[in-house]
Amino acid sequence: MKKHFLFFASCSVILVFIFLQLDCSSKKMSNDELIARGKYLVQFGGCNDCHTPKMMTAMGPVPDTTKLLSGHPADQPIPQIEEGMTAPGKWVLSDDGSTMWFGPWGASFTANLTPDSSTGLGAWTLDNFINTMRTGKHLGTGRDLLPPMPWQGIASLNDEDLNAMFAYLKSIPPINNRVPNPTPPNMPPANKN
Ligand code: HEC
Repeated sequence: MKKHFLFFASCSVILVFIFLQLDCSSKKMSNDELIARGKYLVQFGGCNDCHTPKMMTAMGPVPDTTKLLSGHPADQPIPQIEEGMTAPGKWVLSDDGSTMWFGPWGASFTANLTPDSSTGLGAWTLDNFINTMRTGKHLGTGRDLLPPMPWQGIASLNDEDLNAMFAYLKSIPPINNRVPNPTPPNMPPANKN
């Protein structure tokens, strides 16, 4: 009987110790660790595929790291798309940098995710970011985000991971680049600048 008691008592001590360790490890993440985790998630999450402009090489497009996550370049000419080409059942098109997209929803341009205060996420709070990713609406209450922004998958991340992603995005160099507004179907997109 005494043996059993000692066995269970030591198991409980070990369990409490493990929980304390887990608890401490989540609380202990320093800002640098948070940013590193965010970078890992942003890279694996493919954000660069659409939000970083590309340079064309013989082997295809590669991210232009001098423009990291700055969205569709405002000074890039917008090609004319033949009418009806992107109707339902036809094509979804993108430019060779995957920053500009045409489909039955019209034309969409990938956002500037750098912390630039007037053209990027500089003025966004963590709540703005989490609410946008969870609802698929601009700032959580505004217009629906257009394809191909894959918010539905990003929405499944927990608050800690979204917090880490946002900390990383806030830590990268700000780039001033005003991305054009989206345009509805059958309306030719125009460079705003
Ligand atoms: C397949 C392309 C694609 C990928 C991958 C992608 N995005 Fe986007 N994203 C877009 C497009 C297009 C828009 C603009 C949508 C619009 O104007 O409604 C956008 C817009 C956004 C916005 C702005 C939302 C707003 O309300 O203004 C944020 C923030 C964002 N993306 C974050 C991310 C993050 C973080 C990742 C990686 C986890 C990511 N995106 C991956 C295409 C993509």
